Amino acid sequence: MTRHFLDVDDLDVDEIEAVLAEAENPAPPQVLARRGAALLFEKPSLRTRSSMEVAVAQLGGHPITIVGDEVGIDTRETAEDIARVLSRYHGIIGARVFEHSKLERLASASSVPVVNMLSDDAHPCQTLADLLTLRQQFGNLKGRVIAYVGDGNNVCTSLMVGATMQGMEVRVATPPGYAPPTDAVERAADRGEVVVTEDPFVAVRDADAVYTDVWASMGQEAEADRRRTEFAGFTVDDALMEGAGSDAVFLHCLPAHRGEEVSASVLEGPQSLVWQQAENRLHAQRGLLSWLLTEHE
Ligand code: CP
Ligand code: NVA
Repeated sequence: MTRHFLDVDDLDVDEIEAVLAEAENPAPPQVLARRGAALLFEKPSLRTRSSMEVAVAQLGGHPITIVGDEVGIDTRETAEDIARVLSRYHGIIGARVFEHSKLERLASASSVPVVNMLSDDAHPCQTLADLLTLRQQFGNLKGRVIAYVGDGNNVCTSLMVGATMQGMEVRVATPPGYAPPTDAVERAADRGEVVVTEDPFVAVRDADAVYTDVWASMGQEAEADRRRTEFAGFTVDDALMEGAGSDAVFLHCLPAHRGEEVSASVLEGPQSLVWQQAENRLHAQRGLLSWLLTEHE
């Protein structure tokens, strides 16, 4: 059966365990030997593009990256027709899209795994790297607390679900009107403890990890000025990190805007794991692709 990875809970807890273990395999199996990997980007990317291309190469495959309107999902041809054709050349299809439904339609017509490389709703590859980073720091994550401060966006929703699947308590602090979607909160709350608040200091109290992301995501550039005003008080700075405690780590999916969602002092400070976290995009995705392309009982 072809498995797809459109959000983190497309895998169960044991399957995520297997992916994270495979991420640390020093001898990655050549599951993509003599095969391509089609990587479609409707939005810009630094980390995801580079780490996916290298992961594919490390698994013996050949990445073909297609950016912008070159393919024209639903403009030049339908998502379904694109998936049918690309499945005949490639071992996997990765896509970064605006509407999440485009991923679902690619998956519905694809005979090879489709991987979400970020949509407006979810960023599950990021979550795998985040979990890997947290496990490298803390070992077993059961009972640990992660606080997400900022916009209840794609990164937040996948993180909430992925972290509760690891047994973590998740606390999310957003300004009014920017809470994560109810459906994501419910999916996370079904698996563990979730607190949604409008007070960042409540969220970070005694947390093991503090996470933030940009206030205006790709596609929301026109809202950036308004959001800067509405997110005042939600910067992860030294005062907020003090509320979390000296052993807490700081995470950010990047790109970062110093002076907005995070101060330069926290991003560059001793609690920050952001560069290790960025490196882990490569290892986590290599583990994911390897798992998706291996037969399981
Ligand atoms: N974190 C992340 O997905 O970065 P890019 O947008 O650069 O791929
Ligand atoms: N929320 C951000 C994440 C970037 C990796 C965006 O969607 O632009």
